[in-house]
Amino acid sequence: MFNDLITAAMRARDNAVAPFSGFKVGAAIETPSGRVFTGCNIENESLGLTVCAERVALWKALSEGEREFTTIAVATDAETPATPCGACRQLLWEYCGNITVLLHSIRGGATLNIPLADLLPRPFGRSYFSTGKSD
Ligand code: THU
Repeated sequence: MFNDLITAAMRARDNAVAPFSGFKVGAAIETPSGRVFTGCNIENESLGLTVCAERVALWKALSEGEREFTTIAVATDAETPATPCGACRQLLWEYCGNITVLLHSIRGGATLNIPLADLLPRPFGRSYFSTGKSD
């Protein structure tokens, strides 16, 4: 249920640790069996170690043993639905493939439903260097 996943992302956003940017982000990622893992952005004083909400949700799910995903919802209070950063697009592609991405603007009320492939055309992947053979 897309609405439930968006609600979970909005709730997760409440826990965002974003004292430097003031930009709170929440994410919720769903598995084929319906398990949902949430995340929020967590900033740090050197700024560069900040982690995005999408990655926190993804790491939580992977660390609990999940390996397949269907949908991720991301909630912000940007005027229009905010799209994930490039690093998150790459990681989502690697671990989730072409999942459905729901980008929700709490302020504007709009949700953009877009396949990850449309957000990351021509992605880098292991096919460039892996032969699948071990030696
Ligand atoms: N942020 C996310 O959590 N997800 C994104 O896809 C883009 C950016 C966070 C990182 C930082 O805490 C704040 O938004 C401003 O960049």
